[in-house]
Parts: sequence; structure tokens; C-alpha cells
Amino acid sequence: RYEIVQRETTLEILPGVRTRAWTYGGTLPGPTIEARRGRPITVTHRNDLPVPTVVHLHGGRTPADSDGYPTDLVLPEGWTEPTMGHGSGHGMGNMRDPHAVLSRRTRDYTFPMDQRPTLLWYHDHRMDFTAPAIWRGLAGLQIVRDDAEEALGLPSGSRELPLMIADRAFTAEGELAYPALDPTLRERPGVLEPYLAGVLGDVILVNGAPWPVHEVDAARHRLRILNASNARHYELEAVLDDGRRLDLVQIGADQGLLAAPVVHRLLPIAPAERYDVVVDFSAVPVGGLVRIVNRLGSGRTRDVMAFRVARAAADDSRVPRVLSADLPGWRRADAVRVRDFSFRAGQLDHGRGWLIGGLPFDPARSDVTVGLGDVEVWRMVADVHHPVHLHLVGFRVLSRNGRPPLPHDAGLKDTVSLRPGEAVEIITRFDGYRGRFLFHCHNAEHEDMAMMANLQVV
Ligand code: C2O
Ligand code: CU
Ligand code: CU
Repeated sequence: RYEIVQRETTLEILPGVRTRAWTYGGTLPGPTIEARRGRPITVTHRNDLPVPTVVHLHGGRTPADSDGYPTDLVLPEGWTEPTMGHGSGHGMGNMRDPHAVLSRRTRDYTFPMDQRPTLLWYHDHRMDFTAPAIWRGLAGLQIVRDDAEEALGLPSGSRELPLMIADRAFTAEGELAYPALDPTLRERPGVLEPYLAGVLGDVILVNGAPWPVHEVDAARHRLRILNASNARHYELEAVLDDGRRLDLVQIGADQGLLAAPVVHRLLPIAPAERYDVVVDFSAVPVGGLVRIVNRLGSGRTRDVMAFRVARAAADDSRVPRVLSADLPGWRRADAVRVRDFSFRAGQLDHGRGWLIGGLPFDPARSDVTVGLGDVEVWRMVADVHHPVHLHLVGFRVLSRNGRPPLPHDAGLKDTVSLRPGEAVEIITRFDGYRGRFLFHCHNAEHEDMAMMANLQVV
């Protein structure tokens, strides 16, 4: 049982600078929630912020009433605005959702945790206001563990490091700079239109700290990487002083361990994706620096963080050749249906935005209805880069542009990066819970500009 108070907090993010953030419990990121597979947990959220909020556990297999549907708002004390309080991002006005469940001040979210062990994250999910809420700080980690994974002998304890990577921009006064953080401003239609591509920052934060340098033993470390950026993509590499690059040995994807490790030199990571990676620092001379660099960045956004190898040390960790044997092996022939979706820019009521299948998000419309237990193939095409996320289920990548998936598509995922002009096929089985869920682009600005649709499991 956890209790989290969502509140405005003044933090020192940049050295010597005071920044007001919206936090889960006063820290940025919020508290890391530790869970065991099969042991349900309840998190009580209290909203002491000036705006309505919604909590979604990303990657959680969660019943619909705790999944954080974007209109199931937790209203702040004394909130009197029209209850939807949204519609600004894409100018849809005070659209009504007859199924919305409003809570006053607090709400209990219950997570069964009946799922593979992995790194999840919780974040705000309010309709049309997700991007500014996450930007202001509403994100935290949740880790699911089980005995089988712990028995593998992977690096653990101080050698297991969750890394939440996110870019931010700051004003001269030290405030988080976002085009429309002020909720009243966002009531103006189309306010985000100049930011169609998404909002980028020029400061890279890892676990809330700018470009941190972390001291490590000369031993294997497990880096559990999350790209929590609104819109920034990364291609990460681990570079030594002498220019050599260390292997990034991928052991897990969004939804837990791979069947077997996959070795990368360069690891692309789109918004909301997680990569579980082992890096061996034992070949680095003591005192040496390993920089984690984003090949897609330029200037200071090329640097992400660094590891200083502080001391020689014994290492009894292992990366077994077989990591897991429970990955679903759905085949095309198992699918009862193939669906097609386009992810493209388009016209909204007020200005431009982002559409799925030609339509903007509407909580009152039914988009996709699937049968509980059905296996389906989804074929998705993109105009520009869109990281597409499905709630409730994990899926496997079947193909990219008619060719086999890429090495980093391995394993069970909940977010897949559609690259510009690409057609990607995924396969999944819709099991877990009946009810109303979502799929959407996880470029947070695209999401706020209507690139989201309903997924009804019946
Ligand atoms: Cu991480 Cu629907 O979101
Ligand atoms: Cu999600
Ligand atoms: Cu997108």
C-alpha cells in the first residue's frame, strides 16, 4: 500500500537554481514503487496540484478502472471548472465523456501485478494535458520482480541502476519552460500547433539530475533504461576515453526479459520504451570515464550521463545464455484478424494535429473492439516518427516494411517505434481484462494533439 501526494514542490534541479515542479510526493522522479509478481498493490493518490490529474501505470496489466483513462480525473480541492477541463490541446472544447469517473481529491489505483517482471513507469495521462504534466514532473518508476528472475544472477543491488532519461528546457528564471504550462492558456485552441513535432529540451536529465556522473565498480552493471522524454529520440552508445565503445548487452525489453541476450553497440530508444541492458565496466581502467552519448543529439544534448570507474572489484554476476522461456510465441496463423492503422498528421477542428486512421481522439467514440483472448495482427503505417503504445497488453514485432524485425525489436514490447514512412506489423493476444483501454502515440505532444484511440476489450 502506497500513498502519494501530488503537489507543487520547489527543487534544485540545475545547480544553485530553484525550479517549481509538479511532483509525486515531492521528488523528481516520484518514488520508485517495488512490486512482486502476483502481489497486488494499491496506490492512493491525493491531488494537491492546481489542475485535475490522472495516473496511468505504463506497461501495467491493469483493470480498466485503475488504468488511468484520460477522462477519469482526480479533481483538486474546490475545482469548479467544467469537469472535463480539457480540449485545449486540439481545440475540441468541453467534449463530454458519459463514462468518465470523476474522483474528488483522492483516488485508489489497484494494480494486480499479475505480469512478467519488468520496469514500468507511472505518469499523468489527462486528456490533452499529458505532455505539460509529465514535463513538469509527473513521472515515476515501478519495478516488478519475481524469484525466477532473481535466481539468474544478474547484476543487482548497487549494480542495478534504473535510469529515467528525459530532456527539459528552463527559462532564465529557472522555471520549466513549456509552451503552455498554464492550464488557462491551453484553453485557447491550437496552442500547441507550432509544436507539431513535439517539445524538446536542451538539458538532459537522468533520474532528475542534469548530465550526472555516477561512480561504479569495475564490474557488470544492469542499466534499466527508460526514455521518459516527451518527444526526444536517442541512439545510445557507451564511449570510453580512448574512443572505444562498450557492448550494450540487452537482456530485456518493455515487458521483461528476452529469451536470450542481444548485443548492441548502438541502441535506439524512442519515448516510453524501456531497455534492460548489462554493461561490463571491468575492462575500463580505474579512474576511467565511460560516457553515455546520444548519437542523435548535437552540442550538449549529445551527452546523456557518464560512469566513472572508481575501483576494482570482484564480480560474481552472470548474464545467462537463456534468460527466459515464457515469451509468447504467437504466429501469424494464430491471428483471427488483421487490422490496418495509419498514424498521420491531419486537420482538427482548430488547426493541425495528429490522427489515427484519419480520426482525432474522442472518448465517446468506439474505435477498436477486440474479443478477450483473441490474437490479432496490427499493421501500422507512419508519416513521421511515431512511438506507438498499447495499454493492457504486450506484443511482439512481426515485421518492418515487410522485412524481419530489427535486433532491438526483440522480446515483448508495449511501445514500438514506427520510423518515418515505415509500415510495422505487431502481433498480440488481448487477454487480461475486459473494458475500455487505449492505444496512442507516445510522443506526448502528438498524444495531446489527438493521436489516441479507444481499445475496447469485450
Ligand atoms: Cu505511457 Cu497511455 O501511456
Ligand atoms: Cu500505457
Ligand atoms: Cu506521434
